[in-house]
Amino acid sequence: MKKILFVTSEAHPLIKTGGLADVSGSLPKALAELGQDVRLILPNYQAIKTSGDLRFLCSLRVDNRDVSLLETQMPDSQVKVWLVDYPEFYNRPGNPYLDELGEPWLDNADRFALFCRIAVEVAMDRAGVDWQPDIVHCNDWQSGLVPAFLSLEPRRPASVFTIHNLAYQGLFPAESTQSLNLPGQLWHPEGLEFYNMLSFIKGGLVYADCITTVSPTYAQEIQTATFGYGLEGLLRHKKDILTGILNGIDLEVWNPESDPFIPQHYHVASLAEKQYNKSELQRRFVLPVNDHIPLFGLIGRLVEQKGIDLIIDCLPDMLSMPMQLVLLGSGDKAFEQRLQNLAHVYPDQMAVTLGYDESLAHLIEAGSDVFLMPSRFEPCGLNQMYSQRYGTLPIVRKTGGLADTVTDTLPETIADQTATGFVFNDASASSLLEAVKRAMLLYSDKKIWASIQTNAMTIDFSWRHSAEQYLMLYRSL
Ligand code: ADP
Ligand code: GLC
Repeated sequence: MKKILFVTSEAHPLIKTGGLADVSGSLPKALAELGQDVRLILPNYQAIKTSGDLRFLCSLRVDNRDVSLLETQMPDSQVKVWLVDYPEFYNRPGNPYLDELGEPWLDNADRFALFCRIAVEVAMDRAGVDWQPDIVHCNDWQSGLVPAFLSLEPRRPASVFTIHNLAYQGLFPAESTQSLNLPGQLWHPEGLEFYNMLSFIKGGLVYADCITTVSPTYAQEIQTATFGYGLEGLLRHKKDILTGILNGIDLEVWNPESDPFIPQHYHVASLAEKQYNKSELQRRFVLPVNDHIPLFGLIGRLVEQKGIDLIIDCLPDMLSMPMQLVLLGSGDKAFEQRLQNLAHVYPDQMAVTLGYDESLAHLIEAGSDVFLMPSRFEPCGLNQMYSQRYGTLPIVRKTGGLADTVTDTLPETIADQTATGFVFNDASASSLLEAVKRAMLLYSDKKIWASIQTNAMTIDFSWRHSAEQYLMLYRSL
């Protein structure tokens, strides 16, 4: 049995802004089911939703700051969660990274450096909780300094660093190295320095014993200039310790047979029932209720990564066809505005909900016929997998985890029953439009459509296989 400290800045259902939370909520549970002793550590944000006991564990003093560790549990599991309680940094409105106006907190470097220091104290068994991990598994830049600090410790646990998104690197002015009291040995171009900036993510990439990312294709892509954001050279240099392990999905949270957020449960043998969810979705978005018109859905952060501009560019052409489109998301204010304007132009065909709404996200997965995910890059992506499980065929761009989890519908993949969606190559509105047209055409053939839904719904996207891969990796360290 391995003892694993899982260091993360968000975990569903405690706190979530995106896919990292889904992974941090479900991978530790899957590892625990494989008999491992996993504990999560994350900051005690104001918005955190704990259920059950929250108890004081210990207090520790780091960098002249008095910090407490609180203990709770992941709901429906034995996995323990340790919350780093330092109200001055974490007890604020807004989300883990941004203030209420959507701007990054000005002291993010201090907030996450403190979080990393506490994780290291726990990892070195200096927090007084009498538990030392064999493996410290860090995720994204917010935990990047952990492998760096650990590298300075004799007799330390092994470290794993997972890249969920290389576009977010945690870059701060060089002066912060002083205010953060960073050990001088770490400050050089082969260390935490990145073009005279302090890079949190480099702490993970340079100092971890092993690097993973969330799909095999993305593991290759980030070694190229297009996807590497200036870190491709370093990643190529590290290629022997870099692997891609595909995310799984939580089959209990995302299950059309038992989903508490949808009005009608269904499964692969009762696909006709899915239409009740479609009607409800049309009602919720105040669109004409009509089962025959194909309904496209989209959920996500409205940022360039997700190819929102491609959708905006081809919307007039798309909506010249008989279809409906519902969108749920928030992000870039300019995208939000343009989408809302378009919804006013096409009130019978398109509707937008801005914001974050978990129950609505489930209804969109269940009620749509097609799910749009034309990302410019996508380290893994979860919604395309949720969609397949709900018999909602995804349209995706061939990149990262989307390329690894969706099989394009072609004569041969229809014949061998592997088709699960629609895949296009170029990040252009015209390529997306062509895929949309293919989906529209196929939608009119109910029999083939149902057979592709069946293929999609019966794929095994469970965590088990991926958790086993992580375990093999931990054992190799
Ligand atoms: P990313 O992590 O890049 O945002 P993923 O596809 O990995 O993309 O995961 C996004 C997760 O966040 C999914 O669970 C998705 O349903 C959820 N999500 C994104 N935006 C919203 C929103 N506005 N409302 C509800 N859930 C959302
Ligand atoms: C990131 C990526 C997304 C991935 C998620 C979980 O937010 O953008 O593709 O699915 O992390 O690994």
